[in-house]
Amino acid sequence: MAHLIDGTAVAAAVRAEVAEGAAAFAAAHGRRPALRVVLVGENPASQSYVRAKARAAGQAGIDAETLLRPADFSQADLLALIADLNADPAVDGILVQLPLPEHVDEAAVTRAIDPDKDVDGFHPENVGRLVLGEDTLEPCTPAGIVELLRRTGVETTGAHAVVLGRSNIVGKPMASLLLRRGLDCTVTVCHSRTRDVDAITRQADILVAAIGRAEFVTADMVKPGATVIDVGINRVEDESRERGYRLVGDIDFDAVSEVAGAITPVPGGVGPMTIAMLLANTLRAAERRAT
Ligand code: GUN
Repeated sequence: MAHLIDGTAVAAAVRAEVAEGAAAFAAAHGRRPALRVVLVGENPASQSYVRAKARAAGQAGIDAETLLRPADFSQADLLALIADLNADPAVDGILVQLPLPEHVDEAAVTRAIDPDKDVDGFHPENVGRLVLGEDTLEPCTPAGIVELLRRTGVETTGAHAVVLGRSNIVGKPMASLLLRRGLDCTVTVCHSRTRDVDAITRQADILVAAIGRAEFVTADMVKPGATVIDVGINRVEDESRERGYRLVGDIDFDAVSEVAGAITPVPGGVGPMTIAMLLANTLRAAERRAT
């Protein structure tokens, strides 16, 4: 059986460190690090993520406010709101929850956020810094995965890391981070058009699945002893649950657990780390802006 990588426990350790840092920041600067989370519309998954982010921030001693706007909020109004937050010296971090409604240009919104307040690490300037190996605010989910690998003691140098998925939020930044000095992986990125994906995943010492397809990765796709990281959160119908669905990852957890050396569960793996790294980025943004 694979070692279970406990994201909830690692996230708790990171959050405790952030809480210490946030208290020190408040003592030094007379105010708490401040995060503003913007949610446009009523996507139920986004609502629950945003609530979790704001609650965790408050618990860590970060001044967190959620700004809820209706689904028909215009792009111009959203850009004006971001401009106000950029100009507010008491705001350290700005997060606009994705996806945005169809009528809003996500790239334009991402570019509008001050790169120094971009706690998602999605601004093109921060993406560029990431690829160049420069110090930057790193996207929370891939940064959280790196933290899980580090704190679990997974050997990365020279390892073949295979990333399933090429999204701007996870797949692409994940590949950039794994390639950086210090981690030093050999990286392959696969996606929906990749030929013979199974043959590639079977070569992975570290396999990161971020494709949004329930239980896509089966046991025969995994090399014995590999470290398997599951980024997926998929709702599948389940009449036996009161809410009518259950959450499963992109990995067939039960079967892959028999083959892998280490594996993250869903829930309780990558998800809690994403939130912990958002808090860490907010503290970091505050500290950088204060000096
Ligand atoms: N939607 C899904 N993941 C994320 C994330 O990490 N940040 C933002 N802003 N939106 C998301």
